[in-house]
Amino acid sequence: MKATAIAPTNIAFIKYWGKKDNSLRLPLNSNISVNLSGLSTTTSVEFSSFFSRDDVLSDRQKDDQSIRRIIKHLDLIRKVANKNFFAKVRSVNSFPTASGLASSASGFAALTVASCRALNLDLSAKELTIIARQGSGSACRSIPDGWVEWLKGSTNNNSYAYTIFPSNYWDINIVTVIVNNIKKDILSTKGMDLVLSNPFLKTRLRKINKKIELIKQYIYSKKFTEFGELVEKEALELHAMTLTSEPPIIYWEPATIELIKLVWRLRKEGLESYFTIDAGPHLKIICQNKDLDKLIIKLRLVEGVKKIISNKISSGTKLIDSHLF
Ligand code: PMV
Repeated sequence: MKATAIAPTNIAFIKYWGKKDNSLRLPLNSNISVNLSGLSTTTSVEFSSFFSRDDVLSDRQKDDQSIRRIIKHLDLIRKVANKNFFAKVRSVNSFPTASGLASSASGFAALTVASCRALNLDLSAKELTIIARQGSGSACRSIPDGWVEWLKGSTNNNSYAYTIFPSNYWDINIVTVIVNNIKKDILSTKGMDLVLSNPFLKTRLRKINKKIELIKQYIYSKKFTEFGELVEKEALELHAMTLTSEPPIIYWEPATIELIKLVWRLRKEGLESYFTIDAGPHLKIICQNKDLDKLIIKLRLVEGVKKIISNKISSGTKLIDSHLF
């Protein structure tokens, strides 16, 4: 009863920011992402009647709170499978732990898919995303292939993720730029709680369905400029929400702003790229193949840039045969 899964991280172009149900992790709005080829988590899980406790070790989750969250997720899967064996869990990331890239998305996607297989649960991709969502919202988007929509739904069973376009539909690059980060990131859970009392939230939610419709059209017709402009607007809107929350949250570092300005300057000079930023200071920059090398050279010159990882759009979570133990 051992299984191993490898899950990509994902980056949202239309963001998930705010929950209407905290324990089920139902989002306030549907959202859109892609899976990233350069950043993944591999997790092996074994259940056995010989184990006397859950034994969880990962290079990502070291503190007690994170371990408790993993065990809570194992409990959910044990409940679905109607089995009460303890588990051994080992997990490694393809990216350096201290880089500030640690994402719960790939972690909970891999944990879900490996655990369900190890307990012999025969679930559809949709059902797997519903379980992953309850571990970490954005984790549900790391399970299906390529370009993914997470439907907000209204109940546990209709808030799920599915592929809107396969990973090979549109060959673009997403460059992750890690910047020096002196302070610890404020957890997205905290930011999402604060947004609920933000006076601008209503306006955001009123316009979000139109945005989703538009971005799907731009992806479908591969309109890079329109797509990029909308992605950037949406990222800035997320940060406008955090800046106007009470108390305000500023996720950016000086290098974040340098990079934003660089992207805008390069665009004026004819190198077309667009950024998005999650709940942290790092940028993900979208560009076309013809501009990738030039862009990376420019990014390297910015003070405070620690690491650059170039990604393609990847498939979703997969079971593999080589186990970590
Ligand atoms: O699922 P979480 O708790 O990691 O939240 C993700 C929040 C953002 O990354 C800021 C936006 C998103 O849609 O991924």
